[in-house]
Amino acid sequence: MTMEPQEYHEALAQLAWQVELGADEAIGEVAVNRYEEKAKPKPKAVVAPPVVETVNEPVDISAEATRLAAGCGDLEALRATLEGFDGCALKRGARNTVFSDGNPAARVMIIGEAPGRDEDIQGKPFIGRSGQLLDKMLASIGLSRNAEAPEDAVYITNVLPWRPPQNRDPLDEEKAMMKPFLMRHIELVKPQVLMLVGNPSNQTLLETSQGVTRLRGQWHEVAGIPALPIFHPAYLMRAPAKKREAWADLLMLKAKLDEG
Ligand code: URA
Repeated sequence: MTMEPQEYHEALAQLAWQVELGADEAIGEVAVNRYEEKAKPKPKAVVAPPVVETVNEPVDISAEATRLAAGCGDLEALRATLEGFDGCALKRGARNTVFSDGNPAARVMIIGEAPGRDEDIQGKPFIGRSGQLLDKMLASIGLSRNAEAPEDAVYITNVLPWRPPQNRDPLDEEKAMMKPFLMRHIELVKPQVLMLVGNPSNQTLLETSQGVTRLRGQWHEVAGIPALPIFHPAYLMRAPAKKREAWADLLMLKAKLDEG
């Protein structure tokens, strides 16, 4: 519709006047009698489903781990039990449960910290760069994870069977939770001596907050088994000057084995 300028200005003035009176809403051309309007049915209130309160019995994970570990009669049962254990959140981020490598009949059982990236991918302990150095250290005193004869062999595991994210240090609660499985692992292998590699392994099994620097150079005992602390090969790669002390510890291990 076209409007003459005068009509336009009159219409605008009327609108302004109506707005001044409070008519500030656009309404239809035909008046609506709201009293006659049929009461519309109110929308039904949406009823939220009842919240089901699940009452979970608090589970003492440590007691559960101890119970499960005690029920394992051999290494295969222990491996299967660990693979089925969901109490430790690390498992969810891991590709593999890293159980062990080497010869279970070996006289020497080596206990490291936790799998790293390579170990997580391949499912075996100590196979990355630090594992290669560990193999060389062992070879220097005539030991190997691939040896068939128990006197030349080693058996290797870790405190934790799952890789911590970004290779962070294992948490105290993770080490404590997994300790019953580790103790059962030692009981089942029955090694003649233990070699405890790195701080987490020593602190978990010797129940101390001291580090390897303080603990090394002497024999300790874990469940009645002689246990020798040694620097972690990853640390030796960062601090090669410490290899001299690691060599002295390897000679202590060899001397113990030579005693028979
Ligand atoms: N470091 C460990 O302590 N264990 C492994 O298996 C690999 C690296």
